[in-house]
Amino acid sequence: MAGKRATIQDVAAQAGVSIATVSRVLTGRAFVDEEKARHVRQAMQTLQYQPSRAARAMRVNRSAILGLLISDIRNPFFTSLIRGVEDIAQREGYSLLLCNTDENPRKERQYVDVLCAEGIAGAIVVPTQERSPAYRPFQERHIPFVAVDRRIRDNGVDTVTVDNVRGAYEGVAHLISNGYRRIGAITGPLTTTTGHDRLMGYREALTDAGIAYDPTLARSGSFKEPSGRLLMAELLAITPAIDAVFVANNLLTLGVLEELHARDVHIPADIAVVGFDEMPWASLSAISLTTVTQPVYELGATAAMRLVQRLRSTEPLTRQEIVLMPTLYTRASSRPRAGAADVESLNSIAADVKSLKRSATGSIRF
Ligand code: RIB
Repeated sequence: MAGKRATIQDVAAQAGVSIATVSRVLTGRAFVDEEKARHVRQAMQTLQYQPSRAARAMRVNRSAILGLLISDIRNPFFTSLIRGVEDIAQREGYSLLLCNTDENPRKERQYVDVLCAEGIAGAIVVPTQERSPAYRPFQERHIPFVAVDRRIRDNGVDTVTVDNVRGAYEGVAHLISNGYRRIGAITGPLTTTTGHDRLMGYREALTDAGIAYDPTLARSGSFKEPSGRLLMAELLAITPAIDAVFVANNLLTLGVLEELHARDVHIPADIAVVGFDEMPWASLSAISLTTVTQPVYELGATAAMRLVQRLRSTEPLTRQEIVLMPTLYTRASSRPRAGAADVESLNSIAADVKSLKRSATGSIRF
């Protein structure tokens, strides 16, 4: 075949596969059996096959898109995370395909299949559960991906998280140092590492202070506001009454504040509150919420930088687990038992929660 350029048909014949298989190996858009892919690559080398411009364009196009799967598009926490990812992606010449899984494993897997079909170069994911099988198609297609905010039980996957155990520990230790002893906990699903780790931090802080862990005071639900209301109502029904509560994310905290307001429970005079995640209104004097904050933008940006590093590396990279640090901001909602003079000023906290929530969220209901 001296002089004649090898065609895709020649490669298929040489490798003993269909033309469609050769095309799939060229574009990487769909899964190809590793044995067949190896035969195709050998045939291309033997025949010195040069893909046409169209095939090259398809492969290049594949490398310009990143997938981003977040678990709750209505949670303001993810707005900052998306921003961090997108700023790096844009800087590095990538576009983003944003997917909202609604904490739903079935939807999560559907979106993984869509992203594979779109021929993405790589993805950043917030797994709906630690033991999620949803990402197997990425692994089969050698599409690199990074887990952010929550870990996934797979030793080969890079992860970028916050030290959730430490954040919860510091929040609860702060309550204990201010004299609170009967402390409840409201967390999200224990099938997520953020739900699980924050409960662990709560338990470790109690143990280190010599306070016995009482499982009836620890409740877990969904990372949603109604769950916060429901679980706070359950804790309020327990006697003897709790004197403080640790709440493991922003939407749960919103639900807790609403429930305490609805029942005219005063903060911290009746119950002290420590939340998790910063909220735009948390520092307003009317709320003055103590909360554990996360470097959310940095979470997103770090995950994107790690993915780009993996996409551009010509050598295999070992798995990295990057852990960022949370910060506890202490405010009036957790200070020691207030004297009479403070009670009035703190009573206004509960009275303003509803109106602040209406103004903060406008027409969007969390
Ligand atoms: O409010 C969002 C935070 O709570 C994130 O860490 C998410 O994983 C949930 O745990």
